[in-house]
Amino acid sequence: MENDLLLCRRVNGRVASPMPSPFTLTFTVNGQTVSLEVDPTRRLLDILRKDLGLTGTKVSCEIGRCGACTVLLDGKPANACLIMAYQCAGKPVQTIEGVADEDLNAIQRAFLEEGAFQCGYCTPGMIMALEAVFRQKPKPTMEELKEGLTGNLCRCTGYSGIVRALDRLSRRRVESTRAIDRLGSFRRAWPDTQR
Ligand code: FES
Ligand code: FES
Repeated sequence: MENDLLLCRRVNGRVASPMPSPFTLTFTVNGQTVSLEVDPTRRLLDILRKDLGLTGTKVSCEIGRCGACTVLLDGKPANACLIMAYQCAGKPVQTIEGVADEDLNAIQRAFLEEGAFQCGYCTPGMIMALEAVFRQKPKPTMEELKEGLTGNLCRCTGYSGIVRALDRLSRRRVESTRAIDRLGSFRRAWPDTQR
């Protein structure tokens, strides 16, 4: 809130919208501190994809409906297409590139093994939404996992594979979303695209 106010100006005694002039945005992305000169109203989605080259966060509807751009902002799921730069100041952001090291985590593995994607465009957002669920509750129920995906749409799969992946995750009652198996690199299994 303090950061928000610092970036606002007063017009006729009232706080107006954030100033359009560039400011130094400092925040952490996947554990790394990043500083950039950006317009306060620049979208987090564009900063991640264009400035930082993190194209795993996808762009689709751009109006907060599809969830393809889901990231974790301060540990909570957020649509990067609706988050402005000034709202990220001093906060941690996690993207799909940061959920696992070299190996798949349990969520990614469940999606891979159950064929829970076709084009894969919705998948990073779904993984991030589920990551948020597991952070809040390490042993979520099937209903809680489904609830966690209510903001994410898929245009290809018909959802049956996704539901199977959720079922697998709920039955396994994974203790952690960190890597539990050695399946090779996520990028190799799931090559990123520049779409
Ligand atoms: S691109 Fe952000 S919700 Fe669809
Ligand atoms: S797999 Fe294509 S949009 Fe979900």
